[in-house]
Amino acid sequence: MKTVAVVGTQWGDEGKGKIVDMLAADADVVVRFQGGNNAAHTLVVDGEKFILRLIPAGALHPNKVCVIGNGTVVDPIALNEEIAALRARGRFTDPSLLKLSCDAHMVMPYHRAIDRAREARAGRRAIGTTGFGIGPAYEDKMARTGLRFDELVNYARFREKLERNIADKNAYLRAVLKAKPLKASEIIDQMKRVRACVLPYLCDTGAYLAEAADAGRRILFEGAHGTMLDIDHGTYPFVTSSNCIAGAVFSGAPLAPGRLDAVLGISKAYTTRVGGGPFPTEIKGALANRLRTEGEEFGSATGRPRRIGWFDAVLARLAVRLNGMWGLALTKLDVLTGIDPLRVCMAYELGKERHVEMPPGRAALERVRPVYEEMPGWRESLSGARALDDLPLNARHYLERVAELAGVPLAMVGVGAPREATIVLRNPFLV
Ligand code: GDP
Ligand code: IMO
Ligand code: MG
Repeated sequence: MKTVAVVGTQWGDEGKGKIVDMLAADADVVVRFQGGNNAAHTLVVDGEKFILRLIPAGALHPNKVCVIGNGTVVDPIALNEEIAALRARGRFTDPSLLKLSCDAHMVMPYHRAIDRAREARAGRRAIGTTGFGIGPAYEDKMARTGLRFDELVNYARFREKLERNIADKNAYLRAVLKAKPLKASEIIDQMKRVRACVLPYLCDTGAYLAEAADAGRRILFEGAHGTMLDIDHGTYPFVTSSNCIAGAVFSGAPLAPGRLDAVLGISKAYTTRVGGGPFPTEIKGALANRLRTEGEEFGSATGRPRRIGWFDAVLARLAVRLNGMWGLALTKLDVLTGIDPLRVCMAYELGKERHVEMPPGRAALERVRPVYEEMPGWRESLSGARALDDLPLNARHYLERVAELAGVPLAMVGVGAPREATIVLRNPFLV
């Protein structure tokens, strides 16, 4: 297959970065199509750890074209810092390998200020956003007041619009959020400096990708966040502000519908989420602490401890349906070593009813009770396994049962953070 999308099936941090980095070896082009630097994708390559926020996770392979599509929102200052940090480590040194959509919207300092001020005011009702201004930037996009990268070309007009926006946002910050207004001159200076850095990357990514697909090049689409954080299909309002499901490729990369060959869903062998919102299989106490430590479950974007839970097959089935998944990559199986018994949620109870599929209206998730199936664990370390036969029998049974409950064939299994710590059963680019 030539065009493959990788998406998160849970609440983010499923290990998408590692799988995209691994698959990028067989791809020519790697594309981000939604989200912004609220994403944090961790890669461990040759013993070195990298966290990519905006740059697609193909950047650590030589000669892969990295595309940031129009469906993303991009903080130009953060983008430049990320590029500089990679260059300082001798990576991603060829600027011709980055293509940034001229139609992508810019995240501005006032978006960050609004995001943080709102969260601070919301107190216990806070969403627990990353604070990077993502929601307010998408709001401006939909309100048709946002600034797109191609507007940087005519700087005089850009500046006029920017000044108007800053005045509006300062009025809102002051009057509604009771927060400190921002200095217009500082933002304008920052944008002037950043403009020269980003202009060389601007590209019509739709035209570029159509041509690449016509030429038979292999294209990998890197989803950010996860299905349950999708603005329409996730646990609203505890979601992010973009569509995170595979369908977003068609509007946000873009690639025409019908040209996407396969969707690979990524899931942890258990579940995590950062921020507020319902989490039916959440575990509290010593076991959660143990999994958090073993799995290093602290947010790569914000350092916040991640909430921990058992694998949830009801969520997985929803993700399979929404994304049309061809296969499942189950990561972090190694983290479950030593835990006995293991539990998998196979249904929810709501009142007297049992639901094997997600009940309608995500608010129901606040009230459901998970129905668990127990399975025996294993004690052996998994980190050296490179084939299913290298795994203990109980680990294989766990994988088989998870795939059966999710209703999707297993394609990969993660047994450690490094790129090579993966059992590959089916590589979508090689079938
Ligand atoms: P992403 O946002 O989906 O790319 O995931 P993150 O990078 O935020 O979080 C996943 C974390 O798990 C990172 O620290 C990865 O290095 C790590 N990781 C990924 N796959 C595995 C795996 O199979 N086993 C272990 N132990 N760690 C993994
Ligand atoms: P990756 O791509 C985990 C969560 C935040 C918060 C909610 C809204 O690394 O998997 P936002 O800043 O987007 O307005 O926050 O969404 N969130 C993530 N959680 N991984 C992510 O990205 C996330 N991106 C957003 O924690 O609950
Ligand atoms: Mg992450």
